[in-house]
Amino acid sequence: MQAVTLSTLKKMKQEQRKFSVVTCYDASFTQRVNEAGIDVILVGDSLGMVLLGHDSTVPVTLSDMVYHTQSVKRANQRCLIMSDLPFMPDASPEKLLENAAALMRAGAHLVKIEGGEWLASGITQLTQRGIPVCAHLGLTPQMVNQLGGYKVQGRGEAGQALIDCAQKLEAAGAALILLECVPSEIGAAVTQAVSCPVIGIGAGPDTDAQVLVLHDLLGITPGKTAKFVKNFMEEASSIPEALSLYHQAVQSGRFPAEEHCFQ
Ligand code: KIV
Ligand code: NA
Repeated sequence: MQAVTLSTLKKMKQEQRKFSVVTCYDASFTQRVNEAGIDVILVGDSLGMVLLGHDSTVPVTLSDMVYHTQSVKRANQRCLIMSDLPFMPDASPEKLLENAAALMRAGAHLVKIEGGEWLASGITQLTQRGIPVCAHLGLTPQMVNQLGGYKVQGRGEAGQALIDCAQKLEAAGAALILLECVPSEIGAAVTQAVSCPVIGIGAGPDTDAQVLVLHDLLGITPGKTAKFVKNFMEEASSIPEALSLYHQAVQSGRFPAEEHCFQ
């Protein structure tokens, strides 16, 4: 099977074919995710909560991200690997380059960074030096202390601001946009407004791709999960089957359903 690249994803957007993304942090699950046909692995800083037991992604370090990216890289065969730049509000432009380079050396094919319009210059710098970037907009969990909780973003006037921001970051060089927790209408509008592929989580059915946290998809996450989560183990008898069902549900547009979306 051919390896997934950014060109593959761009072509899929042009042909209006959806692609699937899941978080993954270790070698064993990377094998299962590859076998399920999933297109992109996100080594997300959600690992801080899911694997390490922190109560937010804020404490995650670069070395945590490097360690898990290396683990995924060793077992990966064909998925595109995207790794999160951890919380680093104090990073100078030099430090940003250095951190992103460490993730690329660890095995990432691109890095994801949370923020807004202020990311533009950093994105241009990274892109010019051979590090493709996904801009994570909408609900940015590293900003939880600023946002006052995990809340839907982009309602009212903030919706247009989000569309403008996505366009500016695409112009700055962003290869992908990830939109988290926004009304479906805004998910659709951003996807239309940019030519790069848009990955959604709680952003409605019209984005070019969907992402879920692996442990949410497998029903391992304790307590009440977010509205956009679906536990695919409920209709599967094994982990490989749940991963395949997720991939097929994204490809066919069956996931997300109305109940997983914000209006
Ligand atoms: O870290 C993560 O898992 C993420 C996704 C929720 C998009 O950034
Ligand atoms: Na993340």
